[in-house]
Amino acid sequence: MLPRLSVCLHVFLPVLLVQGSKTTSPKKVPAAPASPPPRPPPPLGDLTWALGLRLYKAVRSESTPVNTLFSPLLVASSLGAMGGGSAGTTASQVEDLLKTPSSSSSSKAGAQVRELLSGALKSFTQANGTTFHLHTSSAVFSKQAPSVSQTFVKDSQAKFKLQHKPLGKGDSKADLKLLRGWVKAGLGGLEGAPLETEIQARSGALILANALRFKGLWKKQFSVKSTDRRTFLGKKYTKVEMMHRAGLYRFHEDMENMVQVLEAPLSEGKASLVLLLPFHVENLDRLEKLLTLELLSKWLEKTSAMSVALSLPRANISSTLSLQKPLSALGLTDAWDQKVADFSGVSEKSKGKLHLGGVLHWASMELDAQAGKEDVEEEMLDKPKLFYADHPFIIFVRDNATGALLLMGALDHAEGEPLHDEL
Ligand SMILES: *[C@@H]1O[C@H](CO)[C@@H](O)[C@H](O)[C@H]1NC(C)=O
Ligand SMILES: *[C@@H]1O[C@H](CO)[C@@H](O)[C@H](O)[C@H]1NC(C)=O
Ligand SMILES: *[C@@H]1O[C@H](CO)[C@@H](O)[C@H](O)[C@H]1NC(C)=O
Repeated sequence: MLPRLSVCLHVFLPVLLVQGSKTTSPKKVPAAPASPPPRPPPPLGDLTWALGLRLYKAVRSESTPVNTLFSPLLVASSLGAMGGGSAGTTASQVEDLLKTPSSSSSSKAGAQVRELLSGALKSFTQANGTTFHLHTSSAVFSKQAPSVSQTFVKDSQAKFKLQHKPLGKGDSKADLKLLRGWVKAGLGGLEGAPLETEIQARSGALILANALRFKGLWKKQFSVKSTDRRTFLGKKYTKVEMMHRAGLYRFHEDMENMVQVLEAPLSEGKASLVLLLPFHVENLDRLEKLLTLELLSKWLEKTSAMSVALSLPRANISSTLSLQKPLSALGLTDAWDQKVADFSGVSEKSKGKLHLGGVLHWASMELDAQAGKEDVEEEMLDKPKLFYADHPFIIFVRDNATGALLLMGALDHAEGEPLHDEL
């Protein structure tokens, strides 16, 4: 317990300095209470959050996870595009995945859902360069498929930026090589983490792939000077660079569930980062079992702006996921089966041939100190709450305008020099 105590004291120091300089500043004028900025729509009722949460749980229950990251918005919109090219139970199973628990079966038709997703995707990519740096690419690869409808290709490109790419005649090694090249380009030159399962594309297979690399730009920069080396108490204990900043953040403490909830705006307010941190050092099992759309909405609603001393590791969260198993567990079953899949909107000659051969997802997110065009507005700080993320946490990135869930992930382990003197 003692080492942790001294760590806390260290964090307070820069905070007090900030306060000290503020009180002696002659320019200090009590700011008029600004009306709170409008809030994005809550997770409850948003299909990207609904899908994200279900998929997250399915992915995390598959094996012992070490860092997870994916974009619910990208998965939903690529599935939405495929839904548009399908019919029968194949289409209705996609529609079921893209529903919120509260929406009745007839409330939102597939076409309406696709419009919604297409809009959120546009809102997201427009903030590239100012609110975050983003590289993203989505494609449907086809293996020796019958000729693909140009209407489908044009429509999915225009609405969902989903490209169509034929795979060559070669074996699975050749397919993998082509995919890897595409991923690297999609991630802006970054080598994606290797795929753990093999891809075995049979003739007629459609492989859906998303690649995304994200680096948020904070509304207010973390202090470069106070960055120091600390221990991250994850799966393995590692030495990492810890970034510190004291400022006003939306914050809530759920005493009963022992979870801290923090929302930090990104530059220009077009997106924000939401962090869920257990009070104490523990793996994320307990927190994950708690997660529901209702609870997340309640937490976000209960956050209010207050002084927080925020400490975050400089870290990259990356994962490569094959989503076939988790999506099947969530009810997408017909699409994989050559005999029953109905992708008649993708090709006229789809019957008995076209089927989904895989849904692959590469995602990487960088947590860094950098801000966008810095906001100079002064903040009045009281005695701050401590949000000290030196142990595993869950992370979300939400679009401000639509409320859509751009990214969801977990940091179980931070890369760094291993510590051998752990308990
Ligand atoms: C954030 O979204 C709300 C509605 O969701 C909107 O009224 C507000 O203008 C948005 N802010 C920015 C900076 O885009
Ligand atoms: C975001 O902007 C960068 C730099 O201009 C560009 O390379 C990248 O392709 C853009 N990303 C998207 C998704 O448009
Ligand atoms: C995260 O990845 C980026 C890009 O590869 C790299 O520049 C950066 O140093 C990495 N950060 C950490 C903390 O490893």
